[in-house]
Amino acid sequence: MSDQTIETHFVEDRRYPPPLEFAAQANAQPEIYERDFEEFWESEGRERVSWIEPFTKLYEWELPYAKWYLGGTLNVSYNCVDRHVEEGRGERVAYHWEGEPGDTRTITYAELQREVVRFANALKELGVEKGTPVAIYLGMLPELAIAMLACTRLGAPHTVVFGGFSADSLSGRMVDMGCEVLVTQDEAWRRGSTVPLKRTADEAMAAAPKVRRSLVIRRTGNEVRMQEGRDAWLHELDLPDDPASCPPEPMDAEDLLFLMYTSGTTAKPKGIAHTTGGYLVGVAATHRYIFDLKPETDVFWCAADIGWITGHSYIVYGPLCNGATSVLYEGTPDFPDKDRWWSIVERYGVTILYTAPTAIRAHMKWGPEYAQGHDLSSLRLLGTVGEPINPEAWMWYREHVGGDRCPVVDTWWQTETGMALITPLPGVTTTKPGSATKPFPGVDVGVFNEAGEEVGPGGGGYLVLKRPWPAMTRGIFGDDARFRETYWSKYPGVYFAGDGARIDEDGDFWLLGRVDDVMNVSGHRISTIEVESALVDHPRVAEAAVCGRNDALTGQAIVAYVTLKGGDDGSLEMLDELRNHVAGKIGAIAKPANIVFTPELPKTRSGKIMRRLLRDVAENRPLGDTTTLADPTVVNEISQRASADASDD
Ligand code: PRX
Repeated sequence: MSDQTIETHFVEDRRYPPPLEFAAQANAQPEIYERDFEEFWESEGRERVSWIEPFTKLYEWELPYAKWYLGGTLNVSYNCVDRHVEEGRGERVAYHWEGEPGDTRTITYAELQREVVRFANALKELGVEKGTPVAIYLGMLPELAIAMLACTRLGAPHTVVFGGFSADSLSGRMVDMGCEVLVTQDEAWRRGSTVPLKRTADEAMAAAPKVRRSLVIRRTGNEVRMQEGRDAWLHELDLPDDPASCPPEPMDAEDLLFLMYTSGTTAKPKGIAHTTGGYLVGVAATHRYIFDLKPETDVFWCAADIGWITGHSYIVYGPLCNGATSVLYEGTPDFPDKDRWWSIVERYGVTILYTAPTAIRAHMKWGPEYAQGHDLSSLRLLGTVGEPINPEAWMWYREHVGGDRCPVVDTWWQTETGMALITPLPGVTTTKPGSATKPFPGVDVGVFNEAGEEVGPGGGGYLVLKRPWPAMTRGIFGDDARFRETYWSKYPGVYFAGDGARIDEDGDFWLLGRVDDVMNVSGHRISTIEVESALVDHPRVAEAAVCGRNDALTGQAIVAYVTLKGGDDGSLEMLDELRNHVAGKIGAIAKPANIVFTPELPKTRSGKIMRRLLRDVAENRPLGDTTTLADPTVVNEISQRASADASDD
């Protein structure tokens, strides 16, 4: 990371103390920060979760691997569903589901229990048992949450693959995890069109020979190909749904719960492992305190996709463990119109909304009138996640969505951390637009300089985590060396998050974005190398270099520099073809926003592509030191081409 990345860019002196009424009733009171780390997580371990066998030891840390709640056994579906029914909460709504075309479904905890049991029985019929890895490739249907819970009931670890990913991405994950069964749907809805999930799943299964069965959910009802002996429709199976027909499997606290694949700095996504006990306690505790959840009265809406970690932790496991009522929405914010979100907030009386800065910036661009046309007075708390939030977006959210009365919590975390780690507590913390403020109670965060010294208030550097927390990843599936190298090799004994951060004079944290070759586009992590590999996979491409440039809407946008074979200069057709090629290899989220064709790429004398220079070109910055380049004229040529491209727009 260059020093320039960790400089602070502005002075922010706006302060928002918690409103008095909010503070008086909040789940988290100021003393929470005084609590002893071990005492805090022990009592959370007992309070949030029902154990079959209680844990006998809080945690164990053999660097870099931690274990939590040792000796404890539990079942996640029991905690998220059955116990609420047993304790008289069966009639409470678990999900208000709203489909993209406007169809709706209300699912109580009692109904959820029957659905989960039925689904688990379906999986059993397909041969799933404790330990069988299951892939789930679905849009935002209630069946997505149900399928996950059904897996946990049987003790089968799952990997959910976001419905926008390509066949290659899906098969790569299924092969890596060794999945034997795939859950998918005929087609998904997206902006009034259909997305052929089953067709993509067929392609993926052809490349993942271990997958022997698939369970298909009917959504659009259009015809899809079903392979005799392999594919089964869920609705055609006649299955019992009484809980006794499929009792929850007791699982060890450290049994694998799921893998969530995420991009790193190589072409191969990493299977981030989360286990049963620590993850569930971590997401339930953070959900309760950060969102001040009152399960009897709140309507919680995390407007993410369950295909990412945010949805796992704060649409499925955290909220259901806490017995919350949530909104589950299938569609996009602007379909059929740009007020769709606000009509959902009004209709279901949403009290807590959690979304990403990129979505807020999209609403900002469309204008406040869409929000103003609806009664948003039910809202009492707002949250954001996924990327640094710029103060203007924070202020807009507070004013136009929160009516200047709702606290805003900017939560920093990662797929690897499992749960939010740096965040305000809404009844306690004085917030500042753009700051994620303080470590969650019991979490120990530091900022280190290049030399590995901790910087104090006023300093900037690299974000590190100095002590384990319950929901921390238990590693990269099947790749211990990569786990150690990526997170634990920069500084001995601490977790290196890959983010730059600054601490201000009050001890508040300001996150400054990634410091590695990972881009953040609309809150999604995408590896530069993964996009480069997808480009080079095209038969006409000789070489490619990819970087992120700042973008007012998406945070970062992907820029690719491509050298074609045989001195070909490129064309608009080629540009389209390459963008689609990347979408086909990875998924539409990885499509480059710009492609610059260039006869050569800037390389150091040892042959390394200089992405820093390419970022400078992409962001029209003056080019810094080019003396290490093998051929300095290459960059001038590229910047001329890049600016010629820009003036063509
Ligand atoms: O760079 C940080 C950014 O998102 C990365 C983690 O991405 P992912 O694993 O996909 O998880 C996203 C949702 C938890 C981090 O390394 N990030 C996430 N939240 C914030 C953030 N950057 C700044 N502020 C945040 N609140």
